[in-house]
Amino acid sequence: MSDLKKIKDEFISKLKSKLNLSEVNQIKSDLFGKNGLVSSEFKKIGTIADTERKKFASELNVIKDELQGLINLKINEIENEEIKEKLQKEKIDITLPERPFVRGKIHPVSQTIDEISSIFSEIGFSVEEGPDVESEYNNFTALNTPDNHPARDMHDTFYLDDKKEKLLRTHTSPVQIRTMLKDKPPFKIIAPGRTYRSDSDQTHAPMFHQVEGLHIDKEINMGHLKGCLNYFIKEFFELDKIKMRFRPSHFPFTEPSAEVDIGYEMKDGKIVIGEGDQWLEILGCGMVHPNVLRNVKVDPTKFQGYAFGMGIDRLAMLKYGINDLRAFFDCDYRWLNHFGFDPLDVPTNYRGLSR
Ligand code: DAH
Repeated sequence: MSDLKKIKDEFISKLKSKLNLSEVNQIKSDLFGKNGLVSSEFKKIGTIADTERKKFASELNVIKDELQGLINLKINEIENEEIKEKLQKEKIDITLPERPFVRGKIHPVSQTIDEISSIFSEIGFSVEEGPDVESEYNNFTALNTPDNHPARDMHDTFYLDDKKEKLLRTHTSPVQIRTMLKDKPPFKIIAPGRTYRSDSDQTHAPMFHQVEGLHIDKEINMGHLKGCLNYFIKEFFELDKIKMRFRPSHFPFTEPSAEVDIGYEMKDGKIVIGEGDQWLEILGCGMVHPNVLRNVKVDPTKFQGYAFGMGIDRLAMLKYGINDLRAFFDCDYRWLNHFGFDPLDVPTNYRGLSR
C-alpha cells in the first residue's frame, strides 16, 4: 500500500472515532502542520520522477481535500455537540418552585395618601399639588394671616432667606391660594403633601404630611362640610358609624372655624376608634374667610365654601396602630417590612382600602 493510502486509511479511521476538539486539532497539525504527514508528502513532489509526478500530485491533492473535509466536518460535529450539551445543562426546569424574591413595600404614609385620595375622588374632589418651598405671601398673607398674627410664631417656620420671603410651607393651605389663582370657581380639591415646622418629639417631626381640602361653589355651607368630613372619616377608618364633634376654634383663613374630634376608647392598651367617651382631635376646618377669597379674586358675595386641613401621619398612626411618629422617617427596612403595604394592593373604595 502506498504511503498516501496508508495515511488516508489511518486518519479516516481516527476521525471516525469519538474525539474532542483538541484531539481533532492535534490530527490537523499531524497532517497539515509544518512537518505534518501531508505537508511532507507535498515536499516530496519535487523529488518524484517526471512520469509519476502528476499522478502523485493529483492523488495527494484528492487525499488532502478529503482529509480536510473530514476534519472540518468533525469540528462542526463537535461544536454542535457542545452547543447541545450547553443547552441541555442550562435548561430551565419550569416545574421547580419559584425562588423567593424580596419585593419592596409601600410606606404607610404613601398608602394613606392613596387611601385619602381614593375616598375624596369618589365624591368629586380632584388632587392638586404645590411646592414645598413657598412664598411667605401664599403661606401666610394670602391666607389672611397679618404680619403680627400669632399663627406665624405658632407655626415655627423654617425661613429660607433673611428677608423672610421664602419658606418651607408650614401647612398645605397655600395650595388653596395657588389653585384659586390659576382657575375659576367652582373648586373642589384636596392637596396632600409635605409640610415643615421646627418641632420634634414623639408626636412631632420637622417634616410631616398634611392634606388640605377646599370646596368653593355658589351654595356651599357648613352642613356640606360636616357631611363631607363625616363621610371621609367613616370611609377612612372603614367603620359604619363614628362619633364626631365640631369644636369652635380659630384660624385666620376661616370664619367660623372649628376643630374636629372623633370618639375613641382604650381597649387592652390599644386605641379603638369610633365609639367611647374620649375625644381625639384630628383636623381643623371652617368656612373660607371672605378676605382669602378676595385675595384670589373670587367674589365672596357670589361664592363661598369650606376648607379643612389634617395631619396625614397621625391618621396613618391611628389606623395602623403605629405609636412613634419618628419611626416613619427612620428608613428602617425591618419596620417598613412590617408596616409597609404590597405595591400591587392599590387602595380603591370599591375593592377596599387596606385589605
Ligand atoms: N392649616 C391648618 C394647620 O396647619 C389646618 C387647617 C385648618 C386648614 C383649618 C384649613 C382650615 O384649611 O380651614 O394647622
